[in-house]
Amino acid sequence: MVDERPTSTDWTRELVLDNQDMDRQHAVLFARLTAVSELLDGGPRPELERAVAALADDLMAHLASEEALMEETLYPERARHKSAHELFVADFLQMREELREKGPTPPVTEWLRIRIPEWLRFHVRVNDAPFAAYLARRRPQPGDARQRKGDGRRLS
Ligand SMILES: [Fe+2]
Repeated sequence: MVDERPTSTDWTRELVLDNQDMDRQHAVLFARLTAVSELLDGGPRPELERAVAALADDLMAHLASEEALMEETLYPERARHKSAHELFVADFLQMREELREKGPTPPVTEWLRIRIPEWLRFHVRVNDAPFAAYLARRRPQPGDARQRKGDGRRLS
């Protein structure tokens, strides 16, 4: 019954948007979620908190960069997309508060293992995919050719 749970933190094929920046950032977020999920299995509390902090930092940076790009490109759905981010951030911060106060209780564990990854999966497919498609239609991505030459290994 719980077999599928850990897999929700995997970055899987259906999440690929063919936008190098977004894909790379999403892959990092899922890797962070996987690390958190592993530490929830009795990992040391300070390590768990550090892993959640790293996830939070990357998540906030990612959402902010998406929002900046939506503004910059005048993406028509940007207000709605940004509200989705805000609701999610509020939920995430509440989880973090609970983790700080009570530790990795079953509800916090469920939050980190299921609710957050599921939101991210849903968001990537429902909100980010149309934005990536909009970006692709809007202009050929000048960074692509250059990054491919470098074998996609550039991280910034
Ligand atoms: Fe987004």
